[in-house]
Amino acid sequence: MEIPIQTICCIGAGYVGGPTMTMMASKCPDLIFNVVDINEKRIALWNNEDLSKLPVFEPGLQELIVKTRNKNLFFSTNLKEAIKSADIIFISVNTPTKTKGLGAGKSSDLKWVEASAREVARYATGYTIVVEKSTLPVRTAEVIVNILNSAKTNSKREEIRFDVLSNPEFLAEGTAIKDLDNPDRVLIGGENKNAMIELSNIYKAWVPEEKILFTNIWSSELAKLTSNAFLAQRISSINSISAICEVTGADIREVSRAIGKDSRIGSKFLDSGPGFGGSCFKKDILNLVYLAEYFGLTEVANFWESVVQINTWHQERISEIIVKKLFGTVTNKKLVILGFAFKANTNDTRESAAINICKDLLNEGANLVIHDPKVTESQIENDLNKNDTKSLDNDDCSCDEKSGCWEYSKFIYNHEIFNNAHAIIILTEWEEFRRLNWKLISKKMVPPAWVFDSRSIVNTEEVKDAGLNLWRIGSGLED
Ligand code: UDX
Ligand code: UDX
Repeated sequence: MEIPIQTICCIGAGYVGGPTMTMMASKCPDLIFNVVDINEKRIALWNNEDLSKLPVFEPGLQELIVKTRNKNLFFSTNLKEAIKSADIIFISVNTPTKTKGLGAGKSSDLKWVEASAREVARYATGYTIVVEKSTLPVRTAEVIVNILNSAKTNSKREEIRFDVLSNPEFLAEGTAIKDLDNPDRVLIGGENKNAMIELSNIYKAWVPEEKILFTNIWSSELAKLTSNAFLAQRISSINSISAICEVTGADIREVSRAIGKDSRIGSKFLDSGPGFGGSCFKKDILNLVYLAEYFGLTEVANFWESVVQINTWHQERISEIIVKKLFGTVTNKKLVILGFAFKANTNDTRESAAINICKDLLNEGANLVIHDPKVTESQIENDLNKNDTKSLDNDDCSCDEKSGCWEYSKFIYNHEIFNNAHAIIILTEWEEFRRLNWKLISKKMVPPAWVFDSRSIVNTEEVKDAGLNLWRIGSGLED
């Protein structure tokens, strides 16, 4: 008979660990949740009184933090104590694609997962359920089990025992709280049925039992990669068709609507955009490619790799269209970039299409003014690599033909950022970009001025009436 679960630890207070533990804490007020992270700055932000400073922006998150923080939810860097007291430990650290060594460019770097497992092995007491929350390559659980088992053999501590489960997260950023509150399914993979039941008991506080699926551990790991691969494949498919629309006179919105009505296809994830971003899609597909290659399944590897290739090609295609429409050159032209996050309602920029598109335009010599309602200037600076480009704020800035400049603009409401701009490029579908006053903006721009709408969110009539040229993704007829 195991002791009832009382204390939960989560290693990694990122976009997944933070919101997931906050939701669990709000649904299970009798359990204690300790979220730990090696990044002191991040933990300080999670503990900041000013909720606008939380390191993760998600609609609805602040309200849940108010309800739970320092009641049954605690953020700290005290890994040792959090592990010692935990009955269940979620590992939710980042697993970036390896940049060098075996599997470079495709397989995930498991060094943080391994480091976390070693810390668990070092400090855990009694019986502990270790849960993989991070998306991981198939068979990573084996690595964790090996590390934990070696602790058992080497340790003088009596009675340390572990079970390892896979419990992938399916939340999408921007809708994380909604997704966590009402998940399509909760997947729990493992070998020990009792451990699986213990974990499922936490979710049962708010998730109907029929949505909690038990599988073996490898199926659970592979199901997560496959889910993301299928979703990304839908986006590459629709984006590839948008290119056909543009040359044939068809309209991608009409095509999406028509095919989405087929209940076998369904209407979700059929919005053509600037290409998928986010921390998961590319990384997970590349993991799948690596796995297939490892087992000699070359055709399978090529099939999935093409989903990523189309995405890269599609982003380059958009940069090229912008340059071509602006008479073949953007050198020294001011272009306003609206949106830098990889999707609306998040401050996350990982793998955002905006990064590649901005870099391409800077390489062409453009002067960019970048606005995003939630992404900070320092984040954009990180992504665009300050060494490659120079900010317009900088007096030393000498924009030459080799590489352009960029500056950050916090506000768009006074419309000043549109002064003397040759084009506006919408890259993220933030709600406020749908309601711009095109008549006013048009007066400030250099004619013939352009609007490039990679998310299909503007009112085309209003843009045209304001005397602006419009390019919309997947639109075959001149808008
Ligand atoms: C998670 C998963 O880790 C990733 O594999 C999955 O694909 C998406 O979800 P996410 O929460 O978005 O990633 O990552 P991130 O926001 O980078 O947060 C990870 C946190 O782990 C960081 O705050 C980092 O400081 C922390 N960390 C990393 C540790 O606390 N310990 C470590 O050893 C390594
Ligand atoms: C994804 C999965 O949806 C989620 O289940 C998993 O747990 C993590 O990875 P996330 O990356 O946060 O979530 O966001 P998602 O909504 O899937 O969007 C990913 C990218 O696809 C974004 O760049 C988005 O703009 C793009 N997208 C999405 C489209 O271009 N068109 C669509 O129709 C939908």
